[in-house]
Amino acid sequence: MADLQNLLRQAVAQLQHASVPSPRADAELLAGHVLGLTRSQLQLKAVTGMEVSDDDAERLAGLLTERARRIPLQHLTGTAPFRRLELKVGPGAFIPRPETETVVQAALDELIRLESAGVRRPRVVDLGTGSGAIAAAIASEHPSAEVHAVELSAEAASWAELNFAHLPSGSAEVTLHRDDLRNFPDGWEAEFDVVVSNPPYIPADMVPQDEEVRVHDPELALYGGGADGLELPRAVITAAQRLLVPGGWFIMEHAEVQAPALQQICRAQPQLSQVSTHQDLTGRDRATSARFAVSSEPESASRTG
Ligand SMILES: C[S@@+](CC[C@H](N)C(=O)[O-])C[C@H]1O[C@@H](n2cnc3c(N)ncnc32)[C@H](O)[C@@H]1O
Repeated sequence: MADLQNLLRQAVAQLQHASVPSPRADAELLAGHVLGLTRSQLQLKAVTGMEVSDDDAERLAGLLTERARRIPLQHLTGTAPFRRLELKVGPGAFIPRPETETVVQAALDELIRLESAGVRRPRVVDLGTGSGAIAAAIASEHPSAEVHAVELSAEAASWAELNFAHLPSGSAEVTLHRDDLRNFPDGWEAEFDVVVSNPPYIPADMVPQDEEVRVHDPELALYGGGADGLELPRAVITAAQRLLVPGGWFIMEHAEVQAPALQQICRAQPQLSQVSTHQDLTGRDRATSARFAVSSEPESASRTG
């Protein structure tokens, strides 16, 4: 048997030595994963002198060795928290980030606005769904929506499929389209009230420093194409204009430095109006939204009922 407090102290030192960015959090989360405890339960057990069995200590040691090799924490625990969900993640899928939760909130606000305007079953599509994070969160938090998700990578789509199959009861079902967002709709032109996307947007020469991202997030999920990384974000704007009903709305995540360029690109589209930049929780400009072809007809007339 080993003292949990001592094990944690050694674990933090080991991860610090390996330059893991958040050694204490990661040590506690890995120990909690092995012992079946939340982080706060684990902290309580540590100060009250919990003893850890040799088997569990060995399992933790194995995970710490992997983490010290900079395997992402989420690949070791097999899950990533995202809004109210614990998503299943692993190699082949982009690990969902906290800033994307803000993008989901903006999409949910638009869905609430639509429903109060009489749209009973707003239809939403997540372009480049990865693990399914955005679509799954919307399906669980706005069950009256009809939710679709598009993903090009077969590996990522398998993670999304798994997450869509294990949504909390009462969630909307999500329809997964294994497709290129540049070609999708396949019969879905002018069918969506909301388009939401966190596309790849990193410029080719801005290779991420963190090994967890550089080595373990798929390249298809990171690099947006072109010197400015905006090829895919541009494709999302084009796709949104194909997919949205008149009066429909889209929001897209991007890097902070790309906000002015994306504002300009959207403002240059005669069919787009109400172009807005959205901040993440740390106040950085991390998403752009716009409304499509506002007509004199009632908004989303085809979907009202
Ligand atoms: C930055 S990741 C975001 C994943 C997820 N939406 C999230 O926020 O966690 C971008 C995703 O877009 C997918 N993707 C890249 N190019 C695509 C394309 N042309 N068509 C569809 N999906 C694409 C990638 O495979 C990846 O899953």
